[in-house]
Amino acid sequence: MYGLVNRALQQLVCTQHGKQVWDDIRAQAGVVDEVFVRMDSYPDEVTHKLVAAASAVLQMPSDDMLKEFGRYWTRYTMAEGYGALMSDLGPTLHDALSALDDMHARVALLYPKLNPPKFRISDVSPDRISLHYSSSRSGFAPMIIGLVEGLGERYGLRVEVRHAVSKGSDSDHDRFDIRIVGRNSDNAAVDGSTLPA
Ligand code: HEM
Repeated sequence: MYGLVNRALQQLVCTQHGKQVWDDIRAQAGVVDEVFVRMDSYPDEVTHKLVAAASAVLQMPSDDMLKEFGRYWTRYTMAEGYGALMSDLGPTLHDALSALDDMHARVALLYPKLNPPKFRISDVSPDRISLHYSSSRSGFAPMIIGLVEGLGERYGLRVEVRHAVSKGSDSDHDRFDIRIVGRNSDNAAVDGSTLPA
């Protein structure tokens, strides 16, 4: 995975817990890199080890760690100068979830070795939408919950995300069922229209 991802994890931990805690996590993970180069590609194993060590040191289940990381990712990418890519996702959460592959295709122009996940939506109604997530990787699915929550926040929406189907013998991908539970100020539907009271 590109260094950008590991840098984000490092920044999340350092901001919330301080550099010493990050150094403990790095030591426990057996990762020697003190800094990650944004545009360098690192083995996925590095990210997996860092998440596992962070979960052990912070005494937080790794699924919760990944959810937290997903939420952080939406803010981090904005702060790192990818705000235009996020804004171009469209005017509604519905549009954004449909445009994730196009967005990663644009990211791939900057990061040529990108191996992005693939997304598809189904079962769309004013307050619900299902997101199908396919990846050549395993273990990152809980991150989607935080990513969708973070994306929802950008649209002023509070969302509930349920990991409805896991990749395994019965399915070649994960499915997340998303429900809009409210808007920060008033009610809004996934397609941006107003929900009935
Ligand atoms: C402008 C915002 C974004 C940028 C710049 C970005 C960029 C990246 C990069 C560089 C990777 C590492 C992939 C690799 O090294 O092969 C990645 C992975 C990933 N991205 Fe994005 N991304 C963005 C937004 C999103 C959003 C909004 C979602 C979903 C809602 C998402 C879902 C994922 C997932 C799940 C992975 C983990 C890899 C996998 O599942 O195979 N990303 N992204």
